Amino acid sequence: MLLAIGSLALAGQPIIPIPRQMDIDPDKARLGQRLFSDRRLSRDLSTACASCHDPRRGGVDHRPVSTGVEGRKGKLNAPTVWNAWFNFRQFWNGRAEDLKEQARGPIHNPMEMDMRDELVNARLQADSGYQRDFRRIYGRQPNLEDALDAIVEFERALYTPDSRFDRWLRGDSTALSEKEREGYRLFKRIGCISCHNGINVGGNSYQYFGAVVPVKGLREAGDRYDLTGDDFDRARYKVPSLRNITRTAPYFHDGSVARLDEAVRLMAYHNLGFDLTEEEVDKIVAFLRTLEGKPPAILDGTP
Ligand code: HEC
Ligand code: HEC
Repeated sequence: MLLAIGSLALAGQPIIPIPRQMDIDPDKARLGQRLFSDRRLSRDLSTACASCHDPRRGGVDHRPVSTGVEGRKGKLNAPTVWNAWFNFRQFWNGRAEDLKEQARGPIHNPMEMDMRDELVNARLQADSGYQRDFRRIYGRQPNLEDALDAIVEFERALYTPDSRFDRWLRGDSTALSEKEREGYRLFKRIGCISCHNGINVGGNSYQYFGAVVPVKGLREAGDRYDLTGDDFDRARYKVPSLRNITRTAPYFHDGSVARLDEAVRLMAYHNLGFDLTEEEVDKIVAFLRTLEGKPPAILDGTP
């Protein structure tokens, strides 16, 4: 990986840049893009993937918790689909191994799209455009399995390369200001980096919310405990990615915090035991802003 990127500036840095170019199948990705915004994938025709993960607005819905079919309110904040492919597992508690297994979840979830497979197939097959495209790309009638494959290809295309931070990692020393570099040093020195690292600045381990100082009154929905029933897993989540974090408010699994500076303050206190000064919070937020990448190229029609 390091060799492929080919820059000395990277040596020893715990964060890895997103590739500038990914190998995407453009036909599948464009079909997936249509499916991703298609409300016919929900029982009452009200909800598409894009309703909760707007690809043009950070891959999220900017609500504390999402609303599905018939206005049913969930308990969890929708994580971004941008760069989700780089996460080691999917969902807050990592219950899906990959994006394909993940995408099955909301289609079947009675709180979200509430669909049966036969109904998905029937609706896709009733569309002559889908008939044409599925036959051309997959050589058979439209069906859920191939639809999931196409959606995953679209999601893979939702990568955001060339953030200022990645440019700095690749050796462009002018890409960050002094304040932003100080923010990064602080992020490393106080230990944010121990959980938020790797290509997605997170997304590669399970950790507690409240690792040092437990969070009082924490709404524990969707944690590892939900999956395992083991007390050890209470308030334990997949560490979220911090890429494009300035574009994905509100924050945390329950969407309880609207502001990024507040999220940083809470993280430092509960997960590291530090009370940060205003100035320190400000520097870390300045660093986090440099993780804004280029919006996914597929949105302009060029995967
Ligand atoms: C009603 C709102 C809603 C709809 C519709 C929806 N999602 Fe989600 N999505 C969520 C929520 C909430 C979560 C977090 C759930 C959890 O972790 O248990 C999530 C999680 C995800 C994740 C995991 C990201 C990560 O970092 O773990 C991906 C990827 C994703 N959704 C893609 C999709 C796709 C593809 C579709 C359409 C097939 C879809 N979503 C439909 C709300 C929604
Ligand atoms: C012990 C591991 C750990 C450490 C250390 C840590 N985090 Fe986190 N971080 C997490 C986990 C786990 C979550 C998800 C918590 C939740 O949603 O309940 C999270 C969530 C966040 C979020 C919200 C992300 C979102 O999409 O909602 C931000 C912002 C954040 N961390 C920044 C930081 C900063 C800045 C530091 C250092 C001051 C830090 N974290 C230190 C594990 C950690």
